[in-house]
Amino acid sequence: MTTAKTFYVTTPIYYVNDAPHLGHAYTTIAGDVLTRWHRQRGESVWFLTGTDEHGQKVMRTAETNGVTPQEWVDRVVDESWRPLWVSLNIANDDFIRTTEERHKARVQKFLQGLKDAGHFYEGTYEGPYCIGCEEFKLPSDLVGENQLCPVHSRPVEIVSETNWFFRLSAFAEPLLEHYRQHPSACEPLSARNEVVSFLEGGVSDLSISRSSFDWGIPVPWDPEQVFYVWFDALLNYATAVGLGDARNSVGGEKFATTWPADVHLVGKDILRQHAVIWPAMLMAAGLPLPLKVFAHGWLLVGGEKMSKSKLTGIPPIDITSHFGVDAFRYYFMRAIPFGSDGSFSWEDMSARYTSELANDFGNLASRLAAMVEKYCDGVLPAPASEPVLEAALIKAAAIADQCMLALDFQGGIVAIMDFCKQVNGYVTEQAPWVLAKDPARLNDLHRVLYATSESLRALAVLLHPVMPATTVLLWESLGADSSIGDISAQKLGSVYVWGQLPQGSIVTKSAVLFPRLEEKPE
Ligand code: MSP
Repeated sequence: MTTAKTFYVTTPIYYVNDAPHLGHAYTTIAGDVLTRWHRQRGESVWFLTGTDEHGQKVMRTAETNGVTPQEWVDRVVDESWRPLWVSLNIANDDFIRTTEERHKARVQKFLQGLKDAGHFYEGTYEGPYCIGCEEFKLPSDLVGENQLCPVHSRPVEIVSETNWFFRLSAFAEPLLEHYRQHPSACEPLSARNEVVSFLEGGVSDLSISRSSFDWGIPVPWDPEQVFYVWFDALLNYATAVGLGDARNSVGGEKFATTWPADVHLVGKDILRQHAVIWPAMLMAAGLPLPLKVFAHGWLLVGGEKMSKSKLTGIPPIDITSHFGVDAFRYYFMRAIPFGSDGSFSWEDMSARYTSELANDFGNLASRLAAMVEKYCDGVLPAPASEPVLEAALIKAAAIADQCMLALDFQGGIVAIMDFCKQVNGYVTEQAPWVLAKDPARLNDLHRVLYATSESLRALAVLLHPVMPATTVLLWESLGADSSIGDISAQKLGSVYVWGQLPQGSIVTKSAVLFPRLEEKPE
């Protein structure tokens, strides 16, 4: 029996040397919106996130804090990372930690296989190493008089070691061919161009083990060494779904239906690892390559990448405590084109919250509920056609789907919110409060109220992947949970079909979806 391929989405696994900031939340929210969108299309989806727990950076942080690396990672994962994803309503199916046995065992088995197939050799390397990036740098990468790391603006260390090397250079040409054949394997175009020119410039072999510290996965054939943290970390995407397990085992079956990943979401800072090293490792093992690596831009502070090490990392709670979780999810997907850099600004977020969420969307919902209560005792009138809105909805749903599938979250949300604006315009133009004064126009009044409710039904479903909690409130206020069922069971493919809310649905006023903002606390 063959089972259909599951749509497999991943985020990077985050370093646990510190607490999460907006930049980490940004990637994970994008993964969550994409996951929920595909689920709502009726697809089977697997969404993975997790933590990258080995390497010198984590080891030194633990030392500084006077605890063992294992104690440190356990604490940070439980106190900071997992709770953040719960609070942001992230619907991941799995959470992988690289210190887990399932990961370590599969990494060792896989890399032993590459060793046996002749992909590794022993050699000596001396060169600049940035602990922030956990990456050897080329002298040409370093910037300024003091030869600093371009990402962390910090001095690098000169490392000299004998360790194991991966014949990465052998894969430069096959990778170039891969990107020629499959342009969608690396997006956006700017990212693909960067990878292609990097590959065309020639690629050196890669040192994949370390002997100067021991916080990592031991190299099975040389226990004095641990694997280079990136080599261990990249494998998480495959170890989490059963890499290397026997075909008829649980892991083997999971791997058969999940691999290759459909989308690896990454920040542009880690593009090369994902679009060069990772596919080369898979090619060496004869495994299918990920269908897409998508490199999004950076959230900037003062024109530079927001980062904890530069003390510019804003904790997500600073934003969610003021605007709420759904507005946070909405804002970052709506305001910044995915793939471009963007600056977070409190003023911009307040302005969009008020105009797009509170006024356009929230007010429409509360006005409708108030009118159905007032003019129809809270009971929805019979379905009635409204061709202009129906046509607008068909168009919005189609554009939104096209954009979301292409990871153009901004385009998708704009299409949906444009429809919301059209519905507002319709209500203003039809003025149901005027119709209500004329008993002869009762049918018109009912048509307008029904059409507005149906539009809100569609808006709730279309916005559910972006704002899962608020749309449930709206859904309940339309009485839709009792009349048509759970919102997450509604299929995007039929969201445009008019007349789904049945006559007699009980419409009630919900809590205000987007309350007026308090003044920003000083
Ligand atoms: N552990 C590695 C990834 C291994 S994946 C096999 C790592 N971790 S990290 O904690 O530094 O997280 C990097 C990722 O966090 C970025 O690729 C991006 O997804 C997200 N971001 C961190 N800072 C960011 C911004 N300022 N802006 C946008 N995203 C950012 O690298």
